[in-house]
Amino acid sequence: MSALQPVNPPAAASGWGERWARQVDRWMTSPAMGRWAGRSILTRWLVKRRSRQLFDLMAGFVHSQVLLGCVRLELFQRLAQRPHSLDEIALGARVPAAHLQRLLDSAVALQLLERRGPQRYGLGPLGAPLAVHAGIRDMVEHNATLYRDLHDPLALLRDPDGAQMHAWWPYTDHQDGSAQAPAASDQFARYSALMASSQRFVIDEMLDSHDFSRHRTVLDVGGGLGGWVCALARRYPALSLMHMDLPPVSQLARERIEAQGLAGRIECHPGSFLHDALPQGADLVTLVRVAHDHPDAAVRRLLRAIHDALPEGGELLLAEPMAEVDGRPATPDPYFHFYLLAMGSGRLRTPAELMQLMTEAGFEGVRRLPGHQPVHAAMLLGQKTRCLPLEPSTSVNKE
Ligand SMILES: C[S@@+](CC[C@H](N)C(=O)[O-])C[C@H]1O[C@@H](n2cnc3c(N)ncnc32)[C@H](O)[C@@H]1O
Repeated sequence: MSALQPVNPPAAASGWGERWARQVDRWMTSPAMGRWAGRSILTRWLVKRRSRQLFDLMAGFVHSQVLLGCVRLELFQRLAQRPHSLDEIALGARVPAAHLQRLLDSAVALQLLERRGPQRYGLGPLGAPLAVHAGIRDMVEHNATLYRDLHDPLALLRDPDGAQMHAWWPYTDHQDGSAQAPAASDQFARYSALMASSQRFVIDEMLDSHDFSRHRTVLDVGGGLGGWVCALARRYPALSLMHMDLPPVSQLARERIEAQGLAGRIECHPGSFLHDALPQGADLVTLVRVAHDHPDAAVRRLLRAIHDALPEGGELLLAEPMAEVDGRPATPDPYFHFYLLAMGSGRLRTPAELMQLMTEAGFEGVRRLPGHQPVHAAMLLGQKTRCLPLEPSTSVNKE
């Protein structure tokens, strides 16, 4: 099948803006213009910059494999202790030194490592966070699965259910409100451990962005292993906390919460938000990296259930990575677009789309909270100001 099927083109935009854009297209694709722009003192800096950007795009798959190679050799943790020579690193790596040097020099070029003398390497500015945060290293290793799925991007787009990533997330198969099929408990443990190790950044972002002392009880829906409720319990001793997740995850969270001596502060509620009632009594519900895993119908149903479970004046804080978070498409977007496609049921939404979904569910005054690192999560806060008439329950179909 040809990649490009003839289609009826949508009505063309008109006006001077469109005509100008078409003229720029013609200039940018003209070989003569390209030669001139590459030589002219006025434009050659731009041509040079765009050539580099395009080269980096073409080579990006090599860059991420350099990163994976360094993670697998535990280089960042080792070099955080002290710089190492090439021969020292080669010793445990079972890679000939001459070949290993290509990895290390590539990592220097990518600012993951730094040269600290001839054939001697230390941490680079982009390597330092990898030395400190196991969560980033875990995600780099986990991305090897997505990398395999992206081997043929069009095959993935045509048949996302065939992605290996899909098997990582058993709940993405059950978006119709039916009971969870019995997935092996180690599948729940595996994804929950990954989420817990990458949640630290989101937790810091949320703690810095909202004053939780003005709440009495917080319910975290889809709370994973409970890292967020435990962080809240430690920071706010007067707050009472509830946690809800699927039964196998809830059991794991309960064990972690008990191990941290916080069982008296945090109630665990096993259940599915797609077909069980949400626990009552919270004046703030948090939804952290949950909505993007689910299709619109499931998110509508969940947001409405949260609205119903809150008292008047209660609030919802939704935090997750969002598309076009600074108002325009940006380089983190493709990762989440493809990750969520391969995962199986959700999608990356813009802040405006999520605000619209929250408003439709009855929340008012929905607004963005300021954050430092939207690449980890952007945050939206909305309030329930009045009760809504009860809705007949709607079925949730996979979109
Ligand atoms: C991407 S993880 C995020 C976990 C945690 N909030 C975090 O940020 O690390 C999504 C969580 O939603 C939970 N979840 C998915 N479907 C659910 C459902 N129907 N009912 C309750 N929890 C669900 C998953 O078990 C998982 O813990």
